[in-house]
Amino acid sequence: MSQIPAKGRPAEAILAALRERKAQDRDWRRGRLAVYFYWLDEDLERVQQQAYLAYWTENNLGQRAFPSLKSLEDEVIGMSLALLGGGQGAGGTFTSGGSESIFLAMMAARNRARARRGKMRPNIVLPDTAHLTFDRAAEALGLEVRRVPVGADLRADVAAMAARMDDDTVALVGSAPNYPFGTFDPIADLAALAARRGAWMHVDACVGGFLAPYVRRLGHDIPAFELSVPGVTSLSADIHKHGMAPKGASLLLVADAADREWHKFESRAWQRGPYAAYTTQGTRPGGAVAAAWAAMNHLGEEGYLRCARLIMEAKAIMMAGIAAIPGLGVLQPSDIGIFVWRATDPTLDIGKVAAALDAEGWLVGRQQEPDGIHLHLNPIHRSVAEEYVEAVSRAVAAARGGQNSRIGANERTY
Ligand SMILES: Cc1ncc(COP(=O)(O)O)c(C=O)c1O
Repeated sequence: MSQIPAKGRPAEAILAALRERKAQDRDWRRGRLAVYFYWLDEDLERVQQQAYLAYWTENNLGQRAFPSLKSLEDEVIGMSLALLGGGQGAGGTFTSGGSESIFLAMMAARNRARARRGKMRPNIVLPDTAHLTFDRAAEALGLEVRRVPVGADLRADVAAMAARMDDDTVALVGSAPNYPFGTFDPIADLAALAARRGAWMHVDACVGGFLAPYVRRLGHDIPAFELSVPGVTSLSADIHKHGMAPKGASLLLVADAADREWHKFESRAWQRGPYAAYTTQGTRPGGAVAAAWAAMNHLGEEGYLRCARLIMEAKAIMMAGIAAIPGLGVLQPSDIGIFVWRATDPTLDIGKVAAALDAEGWLVGRQQEPDGIHLHLNPIHRSVAEEYVEAVSRAVAAARGGQNSRIGANERTY
């Protein structure tokens, strides 16, 4: 078992030890991962790091002591509301990640419904492509989860979801887009349904929030998903994904700032006086806020458009290249920088293709249904798009023949 050493080691030795440990990790700057990270270039990296360092230990719980953090946070929320359809009276909360944003949304939906309807057995209705973090939140919050299969178009089936709602449905969920396929649910229809039934409508734009508006501006067909869609109550958007900020930065935005009160904790039940928080965290890293603010201001709309263009170009090259390889197919539709490819030839074992790609240094994200390979692209993938297609082609050649290998019971796919 590890123990705190009796005597500390000099800084240089510590840093050298960390460099040595890190050498075991994947070098994500080379673009051979399509999961876990987002990277544009060294210029943005420097800005992120220096901004984070400038506030590396400031505590964002202490906004009386650090009013500058409050102003940075307010600006991040304001810029994001302007991007994502927030009107007069909209509001937002800076959180640690998509999972916390979603947790708060579900907590708010439950608390609002309880306040309005009294005793109930709350449930949430969501397409089965919604992120599993909803189920985790539901488990903690005592919500029943009703997952509804998506249609053949890989989008939420609004009629089927309506059929699963009842008087105890506190929230309806749609993704913009979902993580398994990168498809957008029909948010306007879901939000209209939620409004008719008096349910909280949450849009999970953790992936799309800072990418989809720019992909749309490039001329791609992206449906309305923003807070401005009538009936939408809240929207989660991750700055630490396509907002291109370092980790620990997400937002829960609400169309009506008054709805933030439903996820507020407030108490005086101890000796120290009143304590209140809109997040699940107490102490919050100031660096995450400063770095998010820095990334947004450094990139500007021009920078985000550049990211969107690089991603969509990479996707077009990869999808066309893979579709042209005999025995492979690309799943459609896919609206944004996420897609899945698989073997259309039943004699071709996708598990072996994945193993051959892994042997060449590509970290593979296996998709469970359908059995395939999942990619979530970020700007760096433009520089490796052609290389990836060549690697897939070699991997297919290596995998031809032999026994099938489905995802193993203990294999990590995410
Ligand atoms: C659509 C979607 N929602 C929510 C999340 C959860 O976000 P986080 O990992 O930041 O908690 C993710 C993460 O990939 C996601 O893709």
